[in-house]
Amino acid sequence: MAQQARLLLGGVHQRVHADTADMSGCCDSRGYNDMFGPRFARHLATRYRKRGLDKTAARMVAYLVDRGLDGASVLEIGGGVGAIQLELLGQGASRTTNLELVDAYDTDATNLAEKAGMRDRMTRSQVDIAATPGEVETHDIVVLHRVVCCYPDYERLLTAAADHAKRLLVFSHPPRNWVTRTLTRLENVGFRLRGKSFRTFAHPPAAMVAVAEGRGMHTEYSYRGPVWQVVGLARATYGRPVELEAP
Ligand SMILES: C[S@@+](CC[C@H](N)C(=O)[O-])C[C@H]1O[C@@H](n2cnc3c(N)ncnc32)[C@H](O)[C@@H]1O
Repeated sequence: MAQQARLLLGGVHQRVHADTADMSGCCDSRGYNDMFGPRFARHLATRYRKRGLDKTAARMVAYLVDRGLDGASVLEIGGGVGAIQLELLGQGASRTTNLELVDAYDTDATNLAEKAGMRDRMTRSQVDIAATPGEVETHDIVVLHRVVCCYPDYERLLTAAADHAKRLLVFSHPPRNWVTRTLTRLENVGFRLRGKSFRTFAHPPAAMVAVAEGRGMHTEYSYRGPVWQVVGLARATYGRPVELEAP
């Protein structure tokens, strides 16, 4: 059963859409609330306050700035406390929407937005875009940082992400090699032994890119770090001259 509500949290607009059969409270079958709680949120916010963006997030922002942000709307899926969104607003984006599966980040996100004087340009919603893509409007730019590795169905998630990107899509993911596959397996065994339902995934990078490219985007940036890799894609038709019909 779907449950919807609109909240105004410290000035940050919140639209909550929780599929109670799947996600929230006692029925969070994939264990996101357990994994991404207030302590994790506080850690992210403190780290951002002290040291700014992590290197991978900074690379993603640099790619988008390079392509031009003027007035762009940004949708960040799994955006945590909203650090990337704050940077993009500071560099010329007009507004941002954050989608999350949990509400644990909201207090810290609100505080950061308030301090940066950006709260009126940031919206937060609790919705799984992969499960209910029709609930979310399209934006110029879509961002996913360290998110695909937390979601089992990368095909559904990246299809929804690409379909909601009018111009650009950028996402980060771990590489898939024997090291990451072994670590992922060990991590997931640890979660199972501790009775946690959360799992991580080292999805195949080429297949993830193929999903986005299959939705009309083309890859124009890639960075292959040992821990995180970044892919930047542009909508194939964006900015191309419109072909006139023959008379
Ligand atoms: C490892 S955290 C990363 C948070 C933030 N992007 C960062 O890098 O600091 C992954 C986040 O993705 C969110 N997430 C995973 N799948 C999602 C989905 N389908 N829709 C929205 N959020 C999602 C989780 O709730 C979690 O907060």
